[in-house]
Amino acid sequence: MNYARAKAYLKLRGQEQLLDYFDELDKEEQSALLNDIENTNFNILKNIGKNTQKKAGKITPIGAVSLQEIARRKPQFKAVGETLLNEGKVGAVLLAGGQGSRLGSDKPKGMFNIGVTRELSIFEQQMRNIEEVTSSTGRHFPLFIMTSYINKSETVEFFESHDFFGYPRDRIHFYVQDLAPTCDFNGKVFLDTKSRLSLAPNGNGGWYSSLINSGLNKIIERENIEWLNVYSVDNVLQRICDPVFIGATVLKRCRCGAKVVKKVSPDEKVGVLCNEGGKPAIVEYYEMPEKLKNKKKKGELVYCYGVTLNYLFNVHDLNATLSGKLPYHLAEKKIPHMENGVRVCPEEPCGYKFETLVVDMVKMMGSCLAFEVDRQREFAPVKNATGCDSVESARELLKLNGVNL
Ligand code: UTP
Repeated sequence: MNYARAKAYLKLRGQEQLLDYFDELDKEEQSALLNDIENTNFNILKNIGKNTQKKAGKITPIGAVSLQEIARRKPQFKAVGETLLNEGKVGAVLLAGGQGSRLGSDKPKGMFNIGVTRELSIFEQQMRNIEEVTSSTGRHFPLFIMTSYINKSETVEFFESHDFFGYPRDRIHFYVQDLAPTCDFNGKVFLDTKSRLSLAPNGNGGWYSSLINSGLNKIIERENIEWLNVYSVDNVLQRICDPVFIGATVLKRCRCGAKVVKKVSPDEKVGVLCNEGGKPAIVEYYEMPEKLKNKKKKGELVYCYGVTLNYLFNVHDLNATLSGKLPYHLAEKKIPHMENGVRVCPEEPCGYKFETLVVDMVKMMGSCLAFEVDRQREFAPVKNATGCDSVESARELLKLNGVNL
């Protein structure tokens, strides 16, 4: 794209401000800017003002495979899951592209030290959890790690300097998640510098399309992988590629599975798995109507299954849903940008980032097994520096699970 074409292209989209500093740039910077303009999806901006809280239909409760049923059928579930793992039909995807802004650390969240008397990063603790499975099956599943363009090199260097925590190097595959433009509240795309657009990671729902765009799906095809266990970086008790979970999802003939915990209170800030218009879906805590949130039957919450960001997706069904579009959610954020020739770092939210969410993929799958797990053993989120779902609470739970800190 040359300058004249870019100008016409941007005029059509009401984004001519992106060329404000063009004359001040050297040749290399000019071509970087034109390149950004050509490769950016401006259609995303059409989501502004749209009601993304889709009319989803009536919310009704969902049943789960309870802890009791799991205890009773564990040998059966486990045998099926272990067979699939031994046949190499399962891979894992770690979502590590987030910015961890609530934790207040400028490093990738997985590098955060949760040790007390020794160094123990979140990444290391999760890799130790994986050993429980690999030592019993004797096989290492492929582990795909999604980073953002911002934290990729630090993440890779961290794994390298820790010798990949004993995991075979050739079974770990890093990739970078796709980007979306950011803009002000009027939909004008920001410039990050005079020569670069302001782009941000497109939310954790971008994990599968970004994996395909990175070419890593070739590994999935080559190895005939049928299931992908997707999990977040910020739960230090995350159990990954759990054979019991895999076996239960397969035997219940579901296209995806979600590890859920019973909520401790109606106000706990977790998304809730329920049915929406008759299909399994996750309703975020801030979207759940008060009346439903507090509804009880025989003293128990009716909408009680909180998701832990640990999902099992069937690859065949993921591919079938690819043509469908994931909705973009608008997040109001403080976004550094160019203003009157100067780069400003606002103290208050000044515009939107556009994010797709993994929870929206569950709805597209059409069926989802709610698989209840013991929260003391499997749910220790690290979202905040202190208080609820914090480093402190996660440390307590790790100690309870016999982890030496
Ligand atoms: P969160 O929604 O908690 O976001 O991520 P975050 O960026 O880590 O933290 P805050 O909100 O800024 O404090 C849930 C999971 O999704 C991943 C995160 O790394 C985490 O594992 N994630 C989030 C991505 O991989 N990419 C994204 O664009 C956003």
